[in-house]
Amino acid sequence: MIRAAIQGVGHYLPERVVENDWFTTFLDTSDEWIKSRSGIERRHFAAEGQTTSDLAIHAAKAALADAGLEPDDIDTVMVATSTPDLTFPATATIVQQGLGMTRGFAFDIQAVCAGFVYALSNANALIVSGQAKRVLVIGAETFSRIMNWEDRTTCVLFGDGAGAVILEAIEGEGTPADRGILATDLHSDGRHREILQVSGGVSTSQSSGHLMMAGKDVFRHAVEKLARSTIDVLEKGGVTADDIDRVVPHQANVRIIDRTAKKLGLPMDKVVVTVADHGNTSAASIPLAMSVAKARGDLKTGDLVVTEAIGGGLAWGAVLLRW
Ligand code: UT7
Repeated sequence: MIRAAIQGVGHYLPERVVENDWFTTFLDTSDEWIKSRSGIERRHFAAEGQTTSDLAIHAAKAALADAGLEPDDIDTVMVATSTPDLTFPATATIVQQGLGMTRGFAFDIQAVCAGFVYALSNANALIVSGQAKRVLVIGAETFSRIMNWEDRTTCVLFGDGAGAVILEAIEGEGTPADRGILATDLHSDGRHREILQVSGGVSTSQSSGHLMMAGKDVFRHAVEKLARSTIDVLEKGGVTADDIDRVVPHQANVRIIDRTAKKLGLPMDKVVVTVADHGNTSAASIPLAMSVAKARGDLKTGDLVVTEAIGGGLAWGAVLLRW
């Protein structure tokens, strides 16, 4: 059977690094509060004029180089983002042009912080159904552009960045020993949309608006829903938590990551944590963490990996794959 396997990974972070202390110059906050409540120590912010597609193109080039491929080897470009360059066209088409691609098709996926998990699942569907052989899946965000800088409960938590993977069709046996995506599990529940949303949009305010979050409510949903989705994806894939080599969670809050791992009985030394250096980069957080983990030697060919995320919508899910 056809499996969609990760053949390359890369990331890009804008040059400007902002430490927690920077926020104390204009907000009633502290490095100690931010670190102890979220695990975040610093984040990167895009330069003036630097767009989501700029970050995405850098990450895509790194993933192409890692896979030893050229842009025209790619059939589909998918960009998971909630901070597109423009209302339209899709940021993915801007990336397509930026890479010099003259073929294939490109589109965006909007599932906020769950965007990369949604994109992986959709790319897998395109590959398994034979509609594409190679999909460039990118998570890229400039959340600094939608922060309310007077709201200390949110603006200290987010950062900018991009990560990319290349999924390629390979032959598998149809067993959990195969490389590639083994199972996916996606959910959303719009009844909870008001606990994490943006205050504006094209059709309501003709502006992009600012992020608003009821942090405690999101936290409660996050631990419960991420644990459930992870258990379900393991079961769908025919494996158990003990078989897992590496967990690559969405990087929102180290306390959410820690509690979810405990619920699953997974030791923290199997969990990739990058939130201290990147903050919450929404749809970019998982491919960024994958790329950093691979560079550290923490993701090796054959590793059984589970990745999970939750964000605005609420939208959440998990993907089980063999690296
Ligand atoms: O990626 C999408 C998913 N998003 C998430 O997963 C985020 C989920 N939520 C969280 O990560 C946490 O809820 C936060 C990090 C946002 C907040 O942590 P918390 O432990 O839930 O704190 P809290 O909201 O209950 O706030 C505790 C106190 C409050 O003061 P009072 O009411 O106890 O006097 C806040 O006003 O901390 C205060 N506070 C701050 N103090 C200093 C809130 N923000 C700050 C701040 N600096 N930046």
